[in-house]
Amino acid sequence: MCGIIGCVTEDKFVASILYKSLKRLEYRGYDSAGMATIFNGILYVKKDQGKIDEVNERLNFNNMPGNIGIAHTRWATHGAPSKINAHPHTDCGNKLAVVHNGVIENFIELKKELLDLGHKFVSKTDTEIVAHLLEENFKNGENFFSAFINTVKRLSGSYALAIIYVGEPDKILVAKQDMPLLIGVGDECMFVASDASAFIDETNKAVILQNGEVAVITAKSYEIYRVKDGAKVTRNPILLNWTLEMAEKQGFPHYTLKEIFEQPLTIKSALRLQDTYADLLTEFLDRGEKIFLLAAGTSYNACLATSYMFSKLARLTAYPVIASEFIENYGHSIDIGTVILAVSQSGETADVLNALEFARLRAATILGITNVVGSTLTRISRAYLLQNAGPEIGVAATKTFTSQLVVLAQLALRLAKKRGKIAQYEMDEFRDRLYEIPDVVSQVLEEVKKPVQELAKKYLNSKFFLFLGRGISTATAFEGRLKIMELSYIPCIAYPAGESKHGPISVVESGVPAFFICPKDETRKAIIGNIEEMKARGAKAIIIGSKDDKELMEISDDYIGLPDIHELLSPIIYILPFQLLAYYLAIERGLDPDKPRNLAKSVTVL
Ligand code: AGP
Ligand code: GLU
Repeated sequence: MCGIIGCVTEDKFVASILYKSLKRLEYRGYDSAGMATIFNGILYVKKDQGKIDEVNERLNFNNMPGNIGIAHTRWATHGAPSKINAHPHTDCGNKLAVVHNGVIENFIELKKELLDLGHKFVSKTDTEIVAHLLEENFKNGENFFSAFINTVKRLSGSYALAIIYVGEPDKILVAKQDMPLLIGVGDECMFVASDASAFIDETNKAVILQNGEVAVITAKSYEIYRVKDGAKVTRNPILLNWTLEMAEKQGFPHYTLKEIFEQPLTIKSALRLQDTYADLLTEFLDRGEKIFLLAAGTSYNACLATSYMFSKLARLTAYPVIASEFIENYGHSIDIGTVILAVSQSGETADVLNALEFARLRAATILGITNVVGSTLTRISRAYLLQNAGPEIGVAATKTFTSQLVVLAQLALRLAKKRGKIAQYEMDEFRDRLYEIPDVVSQVLEEVKKPVQELAKKYLNSKFFLFLGRGISTATAFEGRLKIMELSYIPCIAYPAGESKHGPISVVESGVPAFFICPKDETRKAIIGNIEEMKARGAKAIIIGSKDDKELMEISDDYIGLPDIHELLSPIIYILPFQLLAYYLAIERGLDPDKPRNLAKSVTVL
């Protein structure tokens, strides 16, 4: 999920250009780096785990010969970070090199087929199958382009691919599906990269590739084709009036906003679970006697939502627990029948790891969900699943929250199937709605951006906010509170709306803004009572509800309307206005949304 860059010139050595571009991609986060060039019919490959500069110190990229090359920064999804798993990957004959961002979903079937044909695999990556598939197609006498097209046609999943081949050393072939890829048109060389920051110093002329397209890139030309029918596509470069900093953020003013708008893609990636591991987790959870969902911060809020999904879909009780409280609260009743599903974006949060170590020594089964392969969580878990959201640079978790929910929702569905406690049609309905989520997310982000910006202007000087929800929307209320508190520094209170009368209502006085999360589910009637209760004491009711809920609109002071959604998936959609509001409140208040004060992206101390 990280960066690729390719460069071809007529007569210059490209290694130093590629190295500079690799450095430009460094901001995206990565675990390994590598480069391949071709010179005099020989393929040169250097790669290793670690920071680009460290790898360069060991291997010296700059002395690689050749006027064509590709390079990569890796964010592992299949196979731990290591030298062998770093890109570029090659075929058995060492004639071609491949760099790839994304996930090849059907790599297990393809790998099996290629192993049967005698191919030797060296890495654990999904990417390596691309090199061997191409090699296999060459055996049928195909040229580079046709072998490439026939390879791409066999792939499912997401990919930005760039490939060089000693047999035709004047061109880089590239393909794009659900991962960004741009061609950079320079005067003396042509680039291809996952984002414009890699080449913006050299050229601001860019051609943006679309899904389902491949391109042939030479020193002086580029040709684009559609994979499905081979039709040639004519597309002129656009001029990017971007500084390097803007290019890194793909034109967004901040990483946080870029990451919020990336969610349709990251959710699609999260929908691509590896079956074997998902089955394993399902099996362990189903067998567990006591089940805990353990996490901190945003990941805890995802666990809270999950406890509703597991209960309603699979009839499985799982206790969400804040990692730092786990040992004191439950530690002494842990035994061999305990299963702990730890959810941690970074996989390195000290509170989580500390609780897991305690539980492991008492024979509990540890399972994980994380965004970082090779993190401590992936090493101590019996089995784990990946979020595949790519690196998150904004300190506040946004895209990684929704991708956690999507992974956990799929797990809930698998558990439901295994345990067979609800009707088939209910499971089918949930699955169908789940697969629609990427489209719903992109629609909602576009629709609510403006109204949320206005809300931010209206409420920027509030002294505090209240967040109330019922049922699974309690988790949305908690996460909305966390986002707004982290980015705007405005104190916030969140609780299940049913708790109002038990104390919190005493803080309400005239003009206090209270957010109510009200999807059309079984809790809607009850929360209307809570809204009225609050309004009677002078609160301003800001309601996030269904687009056509007239009754709610009438009682609201401000209303954000969202499309109807399966109640158990509602946190994925209902959190979006809060993510945007947190961002715009920070902007209105003159704060840096990417780096909120006093916070670290990964909290590795107890
Ligand atoms: C979220 O916006 C926060 N930055 C923080 O609460 C975070 O979710 C928490 O520290 C847990 O991190 P993890 O998912 O990497 O374990
Ligand atoms: N799935 C590939 C791997 O794990 C690509 C990762 C990436 O996008 O960096 O190697």
